[in-house]
Amino acid sequence: MIQVQWNRKFEVGHERIDFEHKIFLGLIRDVSLAPQQGIQKERILRHLNEVKKYAVFHFTSEENIMFDVTYPDRERHIKEHEILLALLTDKTHQYRSEEIELDDIVSYLFEWFALHTTQIDTKLSHYISDV
Ligand SMILES: [Fe+2]
Repeated sequence: MIQVQWNRKFEVGHERIDFEHKIFLGLIRDVSLAPQQGIQKERILRHLNEVKKYAVFHFTSEENIMFDVTYPDRERHIKEHEILLALLTDKTHQYRSEEIELDDIVSYLFEWFALHTTQIDTKLSHYISDV
């Protein structure tokens, strides 16, 4: 079982983005803890839907910030968001049809989060502070 936990290294230094990241990671953490709490699969699938909807909200809010500051690397960043959403949708279907385990989704989400925040979002945050 993967340990999903907030770490200071995930902070990008932008108040709004960090705030939303904490909620996003909290939702992923709840999903990771669900099986050991005896939560039924149907409810876990509802929870994964909540993760996805929050991701859509959070990505929109980041993309609007990029738009406001005419961020030059906007397209590549948006592409990364789109890939996460597409893969999360695919993996959720696979989990529903028992082709993969919940842990596979959780590890994917957590690894993506760690990499994306520390590299891609940090770059955006630095750009904003320099504008
Ligand atoms: Fe991002």
